[in-house]
Amino acid sequence: MRLRTRAGAGAVATGLASILLATSASAAPAPGAPGAGDPYYPGAGNGGYDVQHYDIRLTYQPQTDQLSGQTTILATTTQELSSLNLDFALKVSSVRVNNAPAQFSKDTKDPSELVVKPVKPLAKNQFVTIVVSYADTPSKVVVDGATAWRKTPTGAEVVDEPFSSEWWYPANDHPTDKATFDVSVEVPDAVSAISNGNLVRKTKQRTGWTRWNWRSTQPQATYLAFLAVGGFEVLQSTTPSGQPFLSAYDPALGAALPAAKASIERTPEVTEFLATQFGPYPFEAQGGVASNAIGFALENQTRSVYGNSFWRNGSNTSVVAHEVAHQWFGDSVSLGKWSDIWLNEGFASYAEFLWSESIGEGTADELAEYLYNSYPADSPFWQVKPGDPGADKQFDAAVYDRGALAVHALRKAVGDESFFQILQTWQAQKKGTHATIPEFIALAEKLSGKPLYDLFQTWLYTPGRPEFSPAGQPAA
Ligand code: ARG
Ligand code: ZN
Repeated sequence: MRLRTRAGAGAVATGLASILLATSASAAPAPGAPGAGDPYYPGAGNGGYDVQHYDIRLTYQPQTDQLSGQTTILATTTQELSSLNLDFALKVSSVRVNNAPAQFSKDTKDPSELVVKPVKPLAKNQFVTIVVSYADTPSKVVVDGATAWRKTPTGAEVVDEPFSSEWWYPANDHPTDKATFDVSVEVPDAVSAISNGNLVRKTKQRTGWTRWNWRSTQPQATYLAFLAVGGFEVLQSTTPSGQPFLSAYDPALGAALPAAKASIERTPEVTEFLATQFGPYPFEAQGGVASNAIGFALENQTRSVYGNSFWRNGSNTSVVAHEVAHQWFGDSVSLGKWSDIWLNEGFASYAEFLWSESIGEGTADELAEYLYNSYPADSPFWQVKPGDPGADKQFDAAVYDRGALAVHALRKAVGDESFFQILQTWQAQKKGTHATIPEFIALAEKLSGKPLYDLFQTWLYTPGRPEFSPAGQPAA
């Protein structure tokens, strides 16, 4: 992954602050920080405010890749603010703060930092409405050598981790600031516009165009919001548990389509199984999207998007179990810092073991043993620390595979009863918020009554291959 250092914004605001300092008796309002303090990505997110809701209302024309419209952000300030930053890379035409036109500029050093200066400073703990109007061709907008907006023959898809929002809506782009979402996108009648949560309604206001209105009512991290426009086949049903299920398939998958359906259509069954392991499913809808535009999969909230690489040899419910597990680990309980990525990938990968055992394809013990032995002791694999892999190795195999083995080592050390109690308590306590690895370790020690420092130190933070005996007590 690219290493982002999006710091250095706020030069404009510093000037304003010093003028205010000279004319005001009390302390001058400061500019909001251009980052949320993430150790891997200093420029990700921003300081000084907390978003409650994004109302994204766009029109997209696939023929020209023209995306235009407005995003309305409902937020609360957490400090006095002379200015604030939004993470956004597209061309902006106007910004209003509390209905008054605001000054705005792009940070010259970082085109994905939009600096917004309201006419007068914002007080602390103030409710604020920010309306950003914009139009651009997102596939041409490159940040740090990449774009998360992928043009397809019939539309476009914006799906990526850790960054995707800046190519389609302005945001406080860090998983510690989750919000509810309304996503409304008008597209030509011939294509669909798919996003998170429930399809509230499809509406028409002009010939040839249909507006798709989506709603996510549970706190959602900004990178987990997605948009997929294209000639999808859309399937809708109700799960046995009574939840709306909506899936979408790109016909361009061709011969792989039945295998994609044979996997993704089993999402409700996988969800029901994982709820027996992790506790109640945290969201109001279920679904999946079979994309032909990406090779990876991403756990977009309520509706994961699966790339075209998973169905080449037939069905693959393992990847479905992985992405559905992320609805708990990653989506409901989000990362406090990107360096905590093991909390997402270690547990989602371990869910593949649990699912395999439940369908009789090999027990967790067997899968763990096989995985452990598949990496020779001298493999560079064992040099990556899953608990702090570095931004460039955030999605390294070690985070997934050694990460899953670390979860298995915990299970073996505390026993099944304690293990599942830890997972379920973690989910219940942290639902809808964000958390860090040390918090997880503390909970595991508290509930198991066992000292686990050495185990986690060995498995998460120490390079080299740990000792491992799959069915018994792993050395810690
Ligand atoms: N969280 C995703 C998964 O493991 C990984 C996404 C990796 N991102 C990427 N652009 N390849 O399911
Ligand atoms: Zn994953």
